[in-house]
Amino acid sequence: MKPQPAHVAIIMDGNGRWAKKHLLSVASGHRKGVETLREIIRFSSDNGIKVLTLFAFSTENWSRSKEEVSALMQLILEYFKSEIDELHKNNVIIRIIGDIDGLPKLQRETVLSAMQKTASNTGMYLNIALNYGGRGEILSAAKKLCKLYKDDKISLDDINEDNFQDLLYTKGQPPVDLLIRTSGEMRISNFLLYQCAYAEFIFNPVLWPDYTVEEYKKDLKAYMDRDRRFGGRTQ
Ligand code: IPE
Ligand code: IPE
Ligand code: MG
Repeated sequence: MKPQPAHVAIIMDGNGRWAKKHLLSVASGHRKGVETLREIIRFSSDNGIKVLTLFAFSTENWSRSKEEVSALMQLILEYFKSEIDELHKNNVIIRIIGDIDGLPKLQRETVLSAMQKTASNTGMYLNIALNYGGRGEILSAAKKLCKLYKDDKISLDDINEDNFQDLLYTKGQPPVDLLIRTSGEMRISNFLLYQCAYAEFIFNPVLWPDYTVEEYKKDLKAYMDRDRRFGGRTQ
């Protein structure tokens, strides 16, 4: 058996279909999804996962109805209010990845204070992707690099993959080892485009609100059974 992933990323998909299946509002689907998220975070932190990145809201999700977007924004507030103490107690370091400045004021303040509160913890990194898009992230890294170059802080010869990665939201963290997407959709939807270069992908058909720690354990085990070659040969 190979080692467990250091960095797991999850596209938590299927809340809408779950709600439809149960004849509930889409907001109830998202609310139910938060319960799953709690369990998966707790299990990951208790079991030595170093970085867990969860896709909670994409830069493209603003195109949903006003009602759905505001239900999601409300859930963000509720989530941090109810979970921050336990996350902090469990030594979790919260990082929000995405364009925080583009969030409404209350959400922005809430997530900034959660990051501040947990900044000196030493346990699992919990990256929550909010108002996140992979192309936007790479583009903003490129802009930061142009600025460094223009200000004579870096020369062309000194630019490399290591210092480029330091300009991404995941600065200092290992690349994604395992990307799980629930609900059966088989696409990356603009998530962690750079960090997933050599990730293993698992597309689990279970809708996110029905996803359990048992399913997660199965996915982790399936990852550990895979042969990662990184372009080389294993034997
Ligand atoms: C994922 O569930 C959660 C967010 C995008 C916030 P969806 O809402 O995309 O669920 P489906 O894809 O409609 O079932
Ligand atoms: C990706 O799911 C975003 C999140 C899970 C937050 P979507 O449901 O928005 O992606 P598409 O539209 O199916 O690609
Ligand atoms: Mg979806």
